[in-house]
Amino acid sequence: MQDILRELEDRRAAARTGGGQQRIAAQHAKGKLTARERIELLLDEGSFEEFDMFVAHRCTDFGMEASRPRGDGVVTGWGTVNGRQVYVFSQDFTVFGGSLSETHAQKICKIMDMAVQNGAPVIGINDSGGARIQEGVASLAGYAEVFQRNIMASGVVPQISLIMGPCAGGAVYSPAMTDFIFMVRDSSYMFVTGPDVVRTVTNEVVTAEELGGARTHTTRSSVADGAFEDDLEAMMEVRRLIDFLPQSNREKPPVRPFHDDPARIEPSLDTLIPENPNAPYDMKELILKVADEGDFYEIQEAFARNIITGFIRLEGSTVGVVANQPMVLAGCLDIDSSRKAARFVRFCDAFEIPILTFVDVPGFLPGTVQEYDGIIKHGAKLLFAYGEATVPKVTVITRKAYGGAYVVMASKHLRGDFNYAWPTSEVAVMGAKGAVEILYRSEAGDAERIAERTREYEDRFANPFVAAERGFIDEVIMPHSTRRRVCRAFASLRNKKLTNPWKKHDNIPL
Ligand code: HXC
Repeated sequence: MQDILRELEDRRAAARTGGGQQRIAAQHAKGKLTARERIELLLDEGSFEEFDMFVAHRCTDFGMEASRPRGDGVVTGWGTVNGRQVYVFSQDFTVFGGSLSETHAQKICKIMDMAVQNGAPVIGINDSGGARIQEGVASLAGYAEVFQRNIMASGVVPQISLIMGPCAGGAVYSPAMTDFIFMVRDSSYMFVTGPDVVRTVTNEVVTAEELGGARTHTTRSSVADGAFEDDLEAMMEVRRLIDFLPQSNREKPPVRPFHDDPARIEPSLDTLIPENPNAPYDMKELILKVADEGDFYEIQEAFARNIITGFIRLEGSTVGVVANQPMVLAGCLDIDSSRKAARFVRFCDAFEIPILTFVDVPGFLPGTVQEYDGIIKHGAKLLFAYGEATVPKVTVITRKAYGGAYVVMASKHLRGDFNYAWPTSEVAVMGAKGAVEILYRSEAGDAERIAERTREYEDRFANPFVAAERGFIDEVIMPHSTRRRVCRAFASLRNKKLTNPWKKHDNIPL
């Protein structure tokens, strides 16, 4: 009996060494942790339960039968993050470069199926040379099986991808279909075709880092939602994110203990808005002052910075925040910010996370670049996302809310539940200058007259009261009491029930 137990231990130990000490050392030398070390950091201590530790590939081409390391290049299983269950797979670069074989894919599919059935998030740690070249089409089929599961799991359980090494070719499409992608600076990259192919086809000379590193994907392409310094920081931040998210679309988001008075008054907010209506201010200050304990988990911080998206808690409950940022492009909506916010709003709605919207938007960004690139369709994404969302929606207009952009930003007309405005807000069809230029074109040469007309327009329309008169604004509130007002609003909406008409699915302008 003792022998049998010892043999099991020996087999386990062999499986745990992956591709061997030399390759583990090479992994460390690149500043990267191993698949198992990453899982240990991600999950609560001692909580990891592994599946399929002894799985081996079945390939017999290219002499592969001589090398059948147990686990086949991916470690899979489940564990907990702060006591809440998650499923995880972690590709092991020390085994055939973490490449995906038929059996490697089957291991991933197994935990994805379990995650959907049992209602818990999936966290995928990607560090792979792509399709296992020796297995050819069997490996492609494996990817396709994973893709299909990503699609089916979308909107059912949160899916998070960590890119912690290479991720190239068709392999990028599994992370691409998950809810959040995080990368590690200088040790990860993602691209559909690598620098060599790019050079051959387009004559562009570009490094892997320039083409698909963390900086590229967090600032330019928006493929990634965040970047971290190293593997350790990545794991700690994903743990923080998981704390905000529900287990599945069958559950409400978690409610955490909180030590911040929901009625906390913030007198400094009364002077947040500058005297000059065109002067910028930092909308993040408002978010931090409203959030429980000033804790804000920002998503896509480095991309389309004219809109801010992320998670806070109010009275311990997760709330998604969308806010125009007057510090960047005056807070205008453009293609990038519309896409960014639309995707975030849809994530929140899919997982029953209430949405808080802070509005200071002078309109859509004008210009040929925007029009040629389709601001009409992209702007419609945000409009559509807000309009279809059935979760509690609370909106606070701090300053400008002009024209179509006013309507888009979770207005009353898109089923906003509570639409508040600060006394400094200006809810109007457009700014005074633009309106006067159109209405009084014949007086354009008379600067004095135009100034007078502008003043008249401002006096009449640059306030929240015209909209409040019609009930489009439910209440004009004191800036200092914003936290108390929005906490009470969300508390009153806890049992909100709103359903859209039955349809197979909608046709959001993609
Ligand atoms: C089998 C692979 C492999 C792969 C790497 N290895 N990629 N084995 N299939 N795809 C093995 C290497 O042979 C090597 O084995 C070990 O992993 C480490 O690889 P190195 O090249 O030494 O590491 P490094 O220098 O860090 O380079 C990493 C790399 C490079 C950039 C990922 O290995 C590479 O370019 N690999 C091929 C990438 C690729 O073309 N993949 C197929 C793409 S097609 P030893 O024994 O020497 O340690 C695809 C289609 C998916 O993915 C479609 C889905 C629909």
